[in-house]
Amino acid sequence: MKQKKDIIRFFRGNLPLGIIKKDPNLTVVEMAINAGVDIPTNCTSGTCGTCLVRLKKGQIQYPDELPPGLDDYLVKEGGFLSCCMIPEGACEIDVIPPL
Ligand code: FES
Repeated sequence: MKQKKDIIRFFRGNLPLGIIKKDPNLTVVEMAINAGVDIPTNCTSGTCGTCLVRLKKGQIQYPDELPPGLDDYLVKEGGFLSCCMIPEGACEIDVIPPL
C-alpha cells in the first residue's frame, strides 16, 4: 500500500516531464535524470542555488539553518534545492524555479 506515496512527478510549469518512484539512496537531481528530466547543477552541496526547483505539491522538511542557496522568500514560494533536499512522501516538482 505504499505505491502512491513514493512517487515523484516532474513538471515544467503545467507540462508533465516525467515520473519516478522515489529512491531513498538518490538525490532529487539523480532521480530526475532517471526519469529523463534534466535539472542543472553546479556545486551539488546547497551553496550555489543552480538546482533550485519548486515544490508544487507535497511537503519538505527544511533545515533550521537554510543553506546559502536558499532564502526565506524562496522557501515561501516552495523553492528547494534538488541537489540536497528531498520532499517527504509523494510530491510534484516544477523544474522552473520560483524567481
Ligand atoms: S547545485 Fe548548487 S545548490 Fe544545488
